[in-house]
Amino acid sequence: MTAREGASERRVALVTGSSRGIGRAIAVELARSDCDVVINYAANRAAAGETASLVEAAGGKALVVQANIAARADRLRLVEETRDGFGRVDVLVNNAGIAPRKRVDLLDASEESFAEVIGVNLEGPFFLTRDVAKWMVAIRAEHPARPLHIVNISSLSEYASSVHRGDYCLAKAGLGMMTKLFADRLAAENILVNAVRPGIVATDMTAEAKEKYERLLRDDALAPLRRWGQPEEVARVVRALVSGDFDFSTGAVIDVDGGFHIQSL
Ligand code: NAI
Repeated sequence: MTAREGASERRVALVTGSSRGIGRAIAVELARSDCDVVINYAANRAAAGETASLVEAAGGKALVVQANIAARADRLRLVEETRDGFGRVDVLVNNAGIAPRKRVDLLDASEESFAEVIGVNLEGPFFLTRDVAKWMVAIRAEHPARPLHIVNISSLSEYASSVHRGDYCLAKAGLGMMTKLFADRLAAENILVNAVRPGIVATDMTAEAKEKYERLLRDDALAPLRRWGQPEEVARVVRALVSGDFDFSTGAVIDVDGGFHIQSL
């Protein structure tokens, strides 16, 4: 067991996009560990409420905050409501993300989709992280030994080309550099910044291409483990990253993808 300052206190985790899918699983997993959770969502209040019930059943306090992370005023309010509600932040998980509304050939890519996908998947996380990082730096000044973590949920699309959703790939590639940038900048404060790169995970996001992925996993061994990932499998890795077991890792990326990233001949 790693000795952690105030190990008996509950920590506070802000998880963006935690009304459903991977974000919900992360919220519940962190609550089961030692965190109260700020549950951020974009539109579905009822789903966010369900996550809150699950967090509470897992032993955590829940604060539900609607905020579009692509909008500056919403991001600022999200941070303020976290401050008002809990007075601290120990963990930020940048999970919220969208797929493009339509998959279109790269040669038909539209400025509208680009702006929307980059706004939610890269610009929003970048500026939210800037603001939470400033707060964490202030926390560090008062609490020299408190563990402080940022985790970015990237994607295999960070490095794998999908020519029908170029904007999504670009956003996730940018998130890869964002992890390095903040890890570098915040290392002096011992604020650890790492990333998880999920493969094909069964959520609403992948539901529209379910049959295609099913076929590719079964017939083409798209990922060597030949099965879907579950949100909880991603969530457990996030929990481990912020548990104190990875305290000499920053700027690291963990693939949670059934081996998708292996190039084989
Ligand atoms: P999902 O579509 O099931 O859930 C997305 C969540 O993000 C929802 O809670 C939604 O309310 C929230 N959200 C969307 N736009 C938002 C905005 N503007 N502001 C605030 N919240 C917003 O998606 P899923 O599958 O759970 O994905 C979560 C993350 O994991 C995303 O970043 C996604 O890119 C990434 N990912 C997912 C994979 C998969 O196979 N499902 C694979 C690799 C990465």
